Amino acid sequence: MQFSTKIFSQADLRSSKLLKSSLSTLLSQNTDCLVLAYAKTDLDDFSGGKAAKVKSGLLSELDRLLGGSITHANVVGDLDHQQASTCILRAEKSWAASGVKAKRVLLVGLGDLSLANACNLHAYSKIAKAALKNLSGGSIQNAIWFTPSFSLGHQADFLAEEVRLTIQYAGDQAYRFGIRQPAMKFKAKDKADPFTQLTFAGNEACAKDLKAAVAEGMAIVEGMNLAKDLGNLPPNICTPTYLGKAAQGLTKKAGLKVEVLGLKQIQALGMGSFLSVAKGSDTPPQFIVMRHQGGKAGEAPIVLVGKGITFDTGGISLKPGEAMDEMKYDMCGAASVIGTMYATALMKLKKNVIGIVPTCENMPSGAATRPGDIVKSMSGQTIEILNTDAEGRLILCDALTYVERFKPQAVIDVATLTGACVIALGHVHSGLFSEDEGLVNALTKAGKASLDTVWRLPLDAAYHEQLKSNFADVANIGGRPAGSVTAACFLSRFTEKYKWAHLDIAGTAWKSGAAKGSTGRPVPLLVNYLLEQK
Ligand code: BES
Ligand code: MN
Ligand code: ZN
Repeated sequence: MQFSTKIFSQADLRSSKLLKSSLSTLLSQNTDCLVLAYAKTDLDDFSGGKAAKVKSGLLSELDRLLGGSITHANVVGDLDHQQASTCILRAEKSWAASGVKAKRVLLVGLGDLSLANACNLHAYSKIAKAALKNLSGGSIQNAIWFTPSFSLGHQADFLAEEVRLTIQYAGDQAYRFGIRQPAMKFKAKDKADPFTQLTFAGNEACAKDLKAAVAEGMAIVEGMNLAKDLGNLPPNICTPTYLGKAAQGLTKKAGLKVEVLGLKQIQALGMGSFLSVAKGSDTPPQFIVMRHQGGKAGEAPIVLVGKGITFDTGGISLKPGEAMDEMKYDMCGAASVIGTMYATALMKLKKNVIGIVPTCENMPSGAATRPGDIVKSMSGQTIEILNTDAEGRLILCDALTYVERFKPQAVIDVATLTGACVIALGHVHSGLFSEDEGLVNALTKAGKASLDTVWRLPLDAAYHEQLKSNFADVANIGGRPAGSVTAACFLSRFTEKYKWAHLDIAGTAWKSGAAKGSTGRPVPLLVNYLLEQK
């Protein structure tokens, strides 16, 4: 999928004169489809099914340029004042008379802009999705999106968010695993969407913001696509070694500095907790360090840490068989960190960002860790492993100790950590845990701006009681009550030296059922967060 911008000096809707010249310029472009949004008030010009005398709305002007096509569409009942309703007009002979070269015009309803809920990003996302759906899967290959027509009665401050979101959704719509990984689907081939080019048209006044937003949106899509690929790949291919190589590949692709530590180096660091998980597998663990040096040399970095369990059987505390295949997604935290680092490098973000991925498999074997084993973490704290299926926290805790060396400005870990988080929040919000109000606010805001949302859950001292062990400093499970909270509490014991937030993405990283597949979340959230830290 390709995205671009096109700036027209007259592309403006602020006066009827500008509206007229702007529409005729747009219609004169060679495009498969021109996408225009209209408000309920534009349609009111056509009430009663007939074009009223002299009206000046967008649809009336368009009706004149298109030789009555709007009137006609309205008469047959194809135009609706409902938000996100759509109508496609196809080229007729009469269009040529006014120099129209566009093959189609897609009209999208903004709805009644006087209603309170009509003008927020949620409303915009519904509208954009409806429009994109119409562009997909047919004979449309390219389209021009007339950005100013979509502004929901608000000003330019939403423009960047709207454009990024549109690109994010277009990327989602175009993603096909079988095309990106042709070796995986032998007979049943995915068909590529013919719709591959989207151009955002705007005017001089918004040119700079528009171009920046398109570049950011494209980076988000690249990051999400990579995260989706890594998540969807089968666990016999996407091993810890594969993840290490994928990260290393980003040096050439985007200029990231990547270092991958192997078993010996992990042992030398004293990561006894991480190694206790890796022990049961024949596949060696890897510890990936990715750096984007976009800020000043001495500037404290933002550190992202992703859980990279390439398959979670539960270990000796074996999981039940049902849907166990989905535990290939237990590296989606890692995939989102790698994807975000890729996006960050593509955007040439002026910040120092470090991505850390501890990665291994959680397997049962003669060498596997037993329930009851006590291991020593890199921090020196001993851990009684009461359930080998609570392995995510065991690999993350050593990574969280490792990152102290960077003297980070903030650390955010991302993990498919607990089934309990799926029960608490479903598949809508990722769980957010932090005692730092600044981080909570920034991440909540970034979630709202990308519609990759989070919901805060508690992390207070009272819950730490559940992690007491009679034989070690801490137990790795806290029982069934508040399972996501006690998992976060466990991690918090290793994060005392810096500002920290934990994202539990167990419910949001992938979809099950017929639409089974990685979502690429929370790449949009993390990129939006990083963009705001400028
Ligand atoms: N990777 C799982 C969490 C998970 C399970 C995510 C299902 C998404 C869907 C994690 O390693 C795990 O097994 N957690 C256990 C913890 C328990 C043993 C305390 C869980 O959630 O059951
Ligand atoms: Mn597990
Ligand atoms: Zn797991």
